Amino acid sequence: MDLNNVLNTALCFPKGQTVRNRLLMAPMTTCSGFHDGSVPQDLVEYYGKRAQGLGAVIVECCFIEPLGPAFPGALGIDSDKKIPGLARIATAIKQQGALAILQIYHGGRMVEPELIGGKTPVAPSAVAAAREGATIPRELSSQEIDVLITKFGDAVNRAIKAGFDGVEIHGANTYLIQQFFSPHSNRRQDQWGGDREKRSRFPLAVLDIAHQMADRAEANDFIIGYRFSPEEMEKPGIAFEDSLYLLEKLAQRGLDYVHFSVGHWSRSSIIDLADQTPLITRYRQAISATSSLAKVPVIGVGGIVNRSDVEQALAAGYDLLAVGKACIVYPDWWQRLHSGETLTLEMKSTQREALSIPEPLWYFSLVDAMIRDVQNVGKKFKAGVYHEKVEAEALKLIIDVQLDTDRITDIRLQPDSSLDVDFTQTFEQLRSRMLVANSPYVDAIAGATTQSEALKKAVSRALSTSTKHWAEDSGVDPASLEHYDVIVIGSGGAGLAAAINAHDLGAKVVVVERMPTIGGNTLKASVGMNAAQTRYQRDKGIQDTKACFYEETLKGGRFKNNPDLLQQFVERAPDAIDWLAKQEIVLSDITITGGMSIDRTHRPADRSAVGGFLISGLVKNLTKRHIDVLLDTKADNIEFHQGKVSGVRVVDEYGESRILHTKAVIVATGGFSANTKMVEHYRPELTGFVTTNHKGATGSGITLLQNLGAATVDMAEIQIHPTVEQKSAYLISESIRGGGAILVSQAGVRFCNEMETRDKVSAQIIGLAEKSAWIIFDEQVRSQNKAAEEYLAKGFVVQGDSVDDLATQLGMDPSVLTQTLETFNQGVRQQQDPLFGRTTALRHPLDKGPFYAIKIAPGVHHTMGGIAISTQAQVLDTHNHPLAGIWAAGEVVGGIHGANRIGGNAVADIIIFGLLAGEQAANWVKTV
Ligand SMILES: Cc1cc2nc3c(=O)[nH]c(=O)nc-3n(C[C@H](O)[C@H](O)[C@H](O)COP(=O)(O)OP(=O)(O)OC[C@H]3O[C@@H](n4cnc5c(N)ncnc54)[C@H](O)[C@@H]3O)c2cc1C
Ligand SMILES: Cc1cc2nc3c(=O)[nH]c(=O)nc-3n(C[C@H](O)[C@H](O)[C@H](O)COP(=O)(O)O)c2cc1C
Repeated sequence: MDLNNVLNTALCFPKGQTVRNRLLMAPMTTCSGFHDGSVPQDLVEYYGKRAQGLGAVIVECCFIEPLGPAFPGALGIDSDKKIPGLARIATAIKQQGALAILQIYHGGRMVEPELIGGKTPVAPSAVAAAREGATIPRELSSQEIDVLITKFGDAVNRAIKAGFDGVEIHGANTYLIQQFFSPHSNRRQDQWGGDREKRSRFPLAVLDIAHQMADRAEANDFIIGYRFSPEEMEKPGIAFEDSLYLLEKLAQRGLDYVHFSVGHWSRSSIIDLADQTPLITRYRQAISATSSLAKVPVIGVGGIVNRSDVEQALAAGYDLLAVGKACIVYPDWWQRLHSGETLTLEMKSTQREALSIPEPLWYFSLVDAMIRDVQNVGKKFKAGVYHEKVEAEALKLIIDVQLDTDRITDIRLQPDSSLDVDFTQTFEQLRSRMLVANSPYVDAIAGATTQSEALKKAVSRALSTSTKHWAEDSGVDPASLEHYDVIVIGSGGAGLAAAINAHDLGAKVVVVERMPTIGGNTLKASVGMNAAQTRYQRDKGIQDTKACFYEETLKGGRFKNNPDLLQQFVERAPDAIDWLAKQEIVLSDITITGGMSIDRTHRPADRSAVGGFLISGLVKNLTKRHIDVLLDTKADNIEFHQGKVSGVRVVDEYGESRILHTKAVIVATGGFSANTKMVEHYRPELTGFVTTNHKGATGSGITLLQNLGAATVDMAEIQIHPTVEQKSAYLISESIRGGGAILVSQAGVRFCNEMETRDKVSAQIIGLAEKSAWIIFDEQVRSQNKAAEEYLAKGFVVQGDSVDDLATQLGMDPSVLTQTLETFNQGVRQQQDPLFGRTTALRHPLDKGPFYAIKIAPGVHHTMGGIAISTQAQVLDTHNHPLAGIWAAGEVVGGIHGANRIGGNAVADIIIFGLLAGEQAANWVKTV
């Protein structure tokens, strides 16, 4: 089809509405709704601007009832109050001559409890989604299903009243309607579940009621479309043939269009990898000319950016095309296409307002990943396809990485019949993240971390190989590409904060990391980051002072802390919180940890573990700035001669060593808890203790620096953490106790103030005959803490419907545990603890079942001692003189925490001193 014709050729939907051309805006949630899902004004502008020239705009999915929102900031069409706001969007779109269609949905089991006031999400059956940490939903009763169908009807009615030309029923993306059709999520045996016919009933009922509402409103040509995900990876799951079956049934009842929901319009099966036929081709081949479906227009989506994409996708068999990200980046996309511009999916970080992109959408990961600052792009590749091996556990396969001279253009999996479907799904998701970010450094796929990391590494290898080839072809010495201003050793929180800050102050930076993954121990950090006098404390009315933070840290550290470093630490803490917020790493929720008297432990708003959130945010910032991380690359010597740094000798995964040239080095290699010999050397009594730390925490940075004459302090100050699950060495976060939990012995009695510092609580546990204890909490503590879900998913938790039930399962006398809880609960009501003097985290009585218990004992957790530094993070020698050009930050450093680190102080330490080291090093290189 000739493109110019397409741009101007109308299409008549089966019920009579005409769309002026074949290009539509795809539904894309903006996360910008008010707290109740109503429409803010900037969203009206966003849609109005983007409607120019297009045939129609499909407005983002709107939840149809309060248990339905699947994202923060989701828009709602769940009450009549939402009609005026939605009407403003419809009007803004229609004023541009485009049709306004609204997508309606319910998230079902994909809804997080926090989004619905802590309630349990609902679904066809009580089966959790196949992803790590997914909540087990509550099965809907058949009466509730009837009510839900009427709510879909109400939503259609409201869309009509708001002036929309149609609705798109969201039967895709694993939300509730798809959940009813899927044999994975629908295990019902009543009229709504069972065979394929019965599982089709819910989508059909939603379509029926949509028609009824349109008929009742005499909106005879009201468009009703259906979006579907063609296949599911789950076993059992939806096959493409099942989708065709359902679509034909829907078409028989009247449909204006069907809309494929796929990442790319040309996608082939994600189940049968050997069959590379695009699904649209299979669709056209499968439906007979006499079927009802043959008369229904088909919308394709995914990867439509330029004229060639439009031409190819229409030629492949779609009638209409929906355009997603290109419409975000180019509000006037249709005009640009018309004028023949070649477009790329990139925006500058200063463009948000000019592009009328609401702030929450701007920070949405897929959108955020399109932000590039042109001056930072400087990659040079030799264009071509690079084949790389991916090896992770049992997985062994080859990927093809296709590169242009400055970017990754595709990543493909070589067909291999032994591939399992779960991996293919992981690959698809990760591929999309890497292509959008145009970098291998993207978040791993939850539940498939090892495989994700192996893939990322393979892509990163392809990039460095092609850079080497480019250098060879251009006559450039490859070694000359490895000249930096600052080399950061270690990719934990301290290293990444240092790298970003040094880069922002003008330095050319690289990060070297010995492990195959980014993040170090920081990835494991759970509770949060301490700071006093922050804006988030002020917002919550929490009165705090830096002086109190100082005193409590000093007391917690048994007065052994270096006072000057501690002063720097408390002074700079609120700025570090603000710096993170500027990088979109917002730690706005606040809790408390042992040894503190005030809520000052900052964590993500959704109360998830701080470490993953922090590393993911820092990595995004690294990617945005095109700062390289060399994985599987160990620094084994700092080239330091006559008081001057000239480079770092590194050894790669193949055992090959080379020198990276630099003027300055920041050592951020973390602690040594995972180096058993070193731990035993300094503290023989800790022989045989498990450790909570990652494998790379071996103290190698300390050795590197000692070789140059650096001094160490407090090396014997090694912290054991009281609550470690022993089989897995997994840390049970202090936030569980901070949320109100208690510790009991095997006899079922409390034995200490659980909110005391770690050393004291650990000593009390070791003092018990059994040398272990149970952490006990109730449903309220669980509902306030995401980590609890993780512990449940990992099988650490014993659960009882009542206290008696729990006690019986734990082998305790039920009357003793009941008495323990009653006494504690009475204390909570009176805000005192006569038995052990606990004064904090007396949040609420532990009286809401179910009740939970996890068996714990202490493990080696943190090394307070390390390299001696100045207040400016310079590494000091044994005469207290700085080693020129060398800084250190994070757990590799000693002195800040004294004899005992307070929970939440290490994350603060790594960001504060990481930033300081980055700043100092970048400023220093300007002077040499
Ligand atoms: C389970 C757990 C939970 C925790 N929870 C909290 C919490 O809630 N709040 C809190 O404040 N603290 C917490 N901590 C402590 C905190 O996470 C760490 O102290 C902190 O993350 C250390 O950060 P870092 O950047 O100094 O080191 P890391 O994050 O450990 O990073 C150092 C990196 O350097 C790499 N490296 C080492 N040697 C070399 C070499 N020679 N060459 C190249 N790379 C090298 C390592 O592989 C590693 O990736 C927790 C720790 C653990 C283990
Ligand atoms: C930020 C964002 C939000 C999205 N929200 C929705 C949504 O609300 N409903 C939906 O069906 N698809 C949603 N999608 C998927 C898009 O409709 C589309 O299928 C996808 O972006 C691929 O098209 P593209 O390559 O043109 O962006 C969303 C995609 C993005 C990028």
